[in-house]
Formats: sequence, C-alpha cells, structure tokens
Amino acid sequence: MLILEDSPYRELRFEGGQLPTLASLDTEGRVIHLGSFSKILAPGVRLGWVSAAPEILDKLSLLKLAADTQSSPLNMTAVTRFLSTLDIDATEFMADHALPEARVAYVPGGSFFPSEQRSNYARFSYSGQSDDEMVEALTRLGAILRSHI
Ligand SMILES: Cc1ncc(COP(=O)(O)O)c(C=O)c1O
Repeated sequence: MLILEDSPYRELRFEGGQLPTLASLDTEGRVIHLGSFSKILAPGVRLGWVSAAPEILDKLSLLKLAADTQSSPLNMTAVTRFLSTLDIDATEFMADHALPEARVAYVPGGSFFPSEQRSNYARFSYSGQSDDEMVEALTRLGAILRSHI
C-alpha cells in the first residue's frame, strides 16, 4: 500500500511548531509526499514538489510528462532563483550543527566561487572514505539538515 501525503498547507499555521511529516516516519518507501509553492510563495504559481522512493519518482515523472508536457519554464526559473537565496550558510552550519551534532565535516563551498558569493554550498571529500562511511556521514548530516531547515 502506498500513502499519498498531499500536504500543501503544512508550512502554514497560527500556532504551534511543525509536526513531523508522514514521509519522515516512513521506513519502507511507502509515502509519496507532495508540497506546493502556491500556498507559501505566490498563489497560482502552480509549482510544487514531490518526495518519494526513486522508482516511484521515475514513474511519476513519466505521468507528469504525459499529463501536461511541462510546467511553466518562467515559473520554474523564478522559483529556482527564489530558492537559491534560501538555505543555509554552510560555514555557520558546520560550526553550529554539522560538527557538534552530526560529527561530520565538509569544506564550505563559498571559497570555490571566483566572483559571486554563495554561502549555501559544501564540498565533501569522498576519495578517502569507504562507501559505508560516506552513507553513514551523509545520513547523519541529512538528519541534522532536516531538523534545522
Ligand atoms: C489539498 C490540496 N492539494 C493540492 C493542491 C494544489 O495546489 P497547486 O496546484 O496550487 O500547487 C491544493 C490547492 O488548493 C490543495 O488544496
């Protein structure tokens, strides 16, 4: 059984903190989580996101293509530009959370941009670690990122 978590309003509330998504409790890849920028960015932008197991995402992509060919490139560009202004400062996040809470280090990506300053990038060294160590480190970092963003 699959569960469709159609959740365009979860970021909107009058009081109380955020509740966990069903997807965050899913240990078997059963939950397809949907969100919408229409409710948090601009009404009618008609763009959203889906988070699901890779094999489900592949099928959903084909269905979306068959249903409407493509979302508006203008809207997608505008939302992408907006999203690129959020996220995190990777230098501060490493000092405040990644190192103390996840015990994971990375190289903040800002210094790799020659002209414009971009603080929300990180570079990971993967040549000296085993696959298992990388999976462990990124799983820990992912959990910390999810709990702070
Ligand atoms: C429960 C629910 N899901 C999905 C949507 C679709 O949102 P949109 O197409 O505006 O991104 C709506 C819109 O009102 C909704 O109420």
